[in-house]
Amino acid sequence: MYRSHTCGELRISDNKKTVTLSGWVQTVRKFGSITFVDLRDRYGITQLLFSENLNTKLDSNPLGREFVLQVKGTVSERSSKNANIPTGEIEILVSDFSILNKSAVPPFSIQDDTDGGDELRMKYRFLDLRRNLVKKNLELRYAVGRSTRNFLHENNFMDIETPFLIKSTPEGARDFVVPSRMNAGQFYALPQSPQTFKQLLMVSGYDRYYQIVKCFRDEDLRADRQPEFTQIDCEMSFVEQEDILNMFEGLVKRIFKDVKNIDYTEIVERMTWEDAMWTYGNDKPDIRFGMKIANLKFPAHTFPSKPVISELIAGAGFNVFEEAETVLAIAVPGASEYTRKQTDELTEWVKRPQIGMKGLVFIKYNVDGTFKSSVDKFYSPEKLAAIAAATAAQPGDLILLLAGAEEKTRKATSDLRMYLGERLGLRRNDDFKLLWVLDFPLFEYAEDDNRWVARHHPFTSPKPGHIEIMINNNPVIEDAAKYLEHPYAGIKANAYDMVLNGNEIGGGSIRIFQRALQEKMFAALGMDAEEQQHKFGFLLGAFEYGAPPHGGLAFGFDRLCAILGGSESIRDFIAFPKNNSGRDVMLDAPSTIDQKQFEELQIKLDLQ
Ligand code: AMO
Repeated sequence: MYRSHTCGELRISDNKKTVTLSGWVQTVRKFGSITFVDLRDRYGITQLLFSENLNTKLDSNPLGREFVLQVKGTVSERSSKNANIPTGEIEILVSDFSILNKSAVPPFSIQDDTDGGDELRMKYRFLDLRRNLVKKNLELRYAVGRSTRNFLHENNFMDIETPFLIKSTPEGARDFVVPSRMNAGQFYALPQSPQTFKQLLMVSGYDRYYQIVKCFRDEDLRADRQPEFTQIDCEMSFVEQEDILNMFEGLVKRIFKDVKNIDYTEIVERMTWEDAMWTYGNDKPDIRFGMKIANLKFPAHTFPSKPVISELIAGAGFNVFEEAETVLAIAVPGASEYTRKQTDELTEWVKRPQIGMKGLVFIKYNVDGTFKSSVDKFYSPEKLAAIAAATAAQPGDLILLLAGAEEKTRKATSDLRMYLGERLGLRRNDDFKLLWVLDFPLFEYAEDDNRWVARHHPFTSPKPGHIEIMINNNPVIEDAAKYLEHPYAGIKANAYDMVLNGNEIGGGSIRIFQRALQEKMFAALGMDAEEQQHKFGFLLGAFEYGAPPHGGLAFGFDRLCAILGGSESIRDFIAFPKNNSGRDVMLDAPSTIDQKQFEELQIKLDLQ
């Protein structure tokens, strides 16, 4: 028997028990003739005490860090207790030990505040995984998965596997492709998601499907993106948007309860895409804090439903604002007394290449109710007060204004808001706020190709009231410059994203399930009948055999885990992640393959 207990198990109530433990040597400390060892396994750490009688054996079998050790001994009450660990009241008086395996000196220390840098820990990921912090993340991931499966099972969802070697399903990213030996010159693609398969399963009558499934996308990496990642992928038949929102709010609330013991009893907020862009400057707003955007000037066509109030800033002779397409403002709470150095820092921040603004205008709304601004020359105190009112500023706030081209200025204002939210401690990672973003535009316009592209994916249905607009209009655009005037520009999608603390954790839609509408969609995206048949003949064909109305969504499993774990970096929640260049530095993949493999695949490489 290798062990009678784990290293996290023994307590004072086990005093005097004879036990056997196995684990890894975390530390060895010698005090005169006695030796203390911290023995670690997945469950915790237990202190071992080797007394003098074992010294001869220890001398001929010296212990080192990360050795695999088995000890026999007796549980004993410690004289100096450690309140920080559950086993801290006891130690094991070792009667005998054996080294099960030696270890090379680890390249970094296996503890919470390790001395190992990122790349080194990635190279020795199997050692990094021994660290408590990483283990906690994987435990959380397992708990989220378990909670998900339980909830979906209780709600009649059926887990069905779908293939990994498929034909490309374009969803915005590039495919990873796999050459076929038996069909020389032909390639499979790895799925970017099981989208078309889950829709086919609906046609087959499996009206509630789910899968916790790997997806593959060859796209540029960021902290919240990996080339292979995991989705909680779901689809339902005979549902409308409302049914889906209710079901999956339920899932996320259940995960909160099971994993974090949080009763999320609030109503999950809903916001249209247009309101999100208008109020927060992006489509996945962090609503844990205010600092809402005041839209002082913007091109009318971008927000047709919003009132233009440019008179607040127009006509004052301040050229920066006169010439700008867009002027946006936010009020930073309690920041009116920022020093020159602090405001200069903010200006430098918005001028960084990633943000790319030319400068920042300030209005200090002093505690005594007076105003002081960098544009006093142009704006009277009354005007400044009116601008302050538009941002909902209070005395003591600092109002920041950005001006420039619409898209850039909106993004910069959103980034600045997030940056300040972070700086002011308004984005606490133990505070969770869910949000549904609804009514996305169905299409975006790709100017380079002069065609529409699907914002989400080509299987998303227009909102019920907009199907007619799609059917009754020709998607072709005669004059690219006037695409915004085309009826397709106003079509909204029957789609929804779930946002948690400013991160898109999931998204989905009600699908097109009629062949004619799906063909119209493909045509709008520039596919002629032949290409439609070649790429999606199977789906169009299936729609002819009784496709039910259906819809679904997919959560980013890694992202959800990361946010629940208080991080925005998903790597820490994946056992064996890739680095920022998409490499597995432990395996050293991707790598070249043998000439023989090329020959079997009948592929000739010509890397010039
Ligand atoms: P979508 O492309 O929005 O939808 O993906 C769903 C969710 O997956 C997560 N995600 C990622 N996570 C890590 N790394 C990536 N590279 C990555 N890309 C996406 C996000 C996202 O919200 N088939 C549709 C779903 C549907 O319509 O049902 C789909 O894949 O959290």
